[in-house]
Amino acid sequence: MLKDRRIVVGLGGGIAAFKAVALVRELGRRGAEVRVVMTEAATRFVGPMTFAGLTGRPAITDLWDPSYAGEVHVELGGWADAMVVAPATMNLLARAANGNADDVVLATIACAKGPVLYAPAMHERMWSRAATRRNVAALADEGASFVGPVEGALASGEVGRGRMAEPEAIADALGAMFVPRDLEGMHVVVSAGPTHEDLDPVRFLGNRSTGRMGFSIAQVAAQRGARVTLVAGPVTLATPPNVTRVDVRSALELEAAVTAAAASADAVIMAAAVADYRPAERTEQKRKKAEGPLVLELVRNPDVLAGLGAAREGDKPVLVGFALETEKVVEHARGKLLRKKVDLVVANHASDGFGGDDNVVTLVDAAGDEPLPKLSKREVAGRILDRVKTLVGG
Ligand code: CTP
Repeated sequence: MLKDRRIVVGLGGGIAAFKAVALVRELGRRGAEVRVVMTEAATRFVGPMTFAGLTGRPAITDLWDPSYAGEVHVELGGWADAMVVAPATMNLLARAANGNADDVVLATIACAKGPVLYAPAMHERMWSRAATRRNVAALADEGASFVGPVEGALASGEVGRGRMAEPEAIADALGAMFVPRDLEGMHVVVSAGPTHEDLDPVRFLGNRSTGRMGFSIAQVAAQRGARVTLVAGPVTLATPPNVTRVDVRSALELEAAVTAAAASADAVIMAAAVADYRPAERTEQKRKKAEGPLVLELVRNPDVLAGLGAAREGDKPVLVGFALETEKVVEHARGKLLRKKVDLVVANHASDGFGGDDNVVTLVDAAGDEPLPKLSKREVAGRILDRVKTLVGG
């Protein structure tokens, strides 16, 4: 999303300026070409030379920078595909909302031809001031976007909402600005993560699913404009922006949540690793050990996806399943496509998917198999959603 994009990073004068260094590095890592501008106050927190190593040139701090033939702000504002202001202090937001253009950061914002994203950072009391609320609303009215601030430890040692979003989250938000909103008007339900089937109050049967594939699908779908309901098993992942999350624990809870959301869905994507069995009994008290082996009785869980397939009348919602296999991957996936009456099965080998950043999958549908190359989970999510879009539209 950020590959070959031209990005201006503008720094205001706040302690979070040190995190802007990590942001610039992250943008570079994602393939963006970056220029940095700083207010005078920002230079008190981090030096302009710090950015030379990361972007190939020091940050610009002066509207009259002699290395620019023309006017710096006009050149940079016209050059950039987008601008991100991080940290955006209370004072900087006020000046931007007022249309001030009296330093290189403010003048570049004023002259930006692309969208502007602010990552505010300030004490919680400053963030909740009426003046800041007004300024944020005024900038949003003009079309600016915001990421954060988030809850967390503030520079003062207190905890509150005012902490700048993390560099990865800012880069994600910036990248999202370049994603076409081609799923607008669509409701997508995604399930993700494992289920935990309780044996007693302290023990459960689970599996190694991390939930990352499903969370990526939810994130990308929301960025592309879909209304997204994410039914999540027990995982430690953060909820992607603009996603409605429903937390569940067991297969039965997941079934109830998915079935309820599916009633208004255009598509249901079952990325969750739903346990096929649960203990016949969940004891009230902790089970005590005894001599000899333990035999557990397990009963079948409902197959959520097959249930949706069987109950479907017509072709709505579009149903997508996953098949994690250890052998005969595509053959088994095709079996699931037919047995569960779904539109698409995303097949992968057990060794290729779990836990990592990348995934090697084959998309299996009635028309045939499409093996995809090794892609990031984000890219796989994009390919799946491309198919879903066609299926919903067609
Ligand atoms: N699934 C489901 N409910 C279950 C089990 C699985 O909805 N109780 C969904 C998963 O979310 C996934 C797909 O079905 O999208 C494939 O799951 P998998 O367990 O691989 O399929 P099974 O038909 O259970 O086959 P297997 O014999 O390989 O376990």
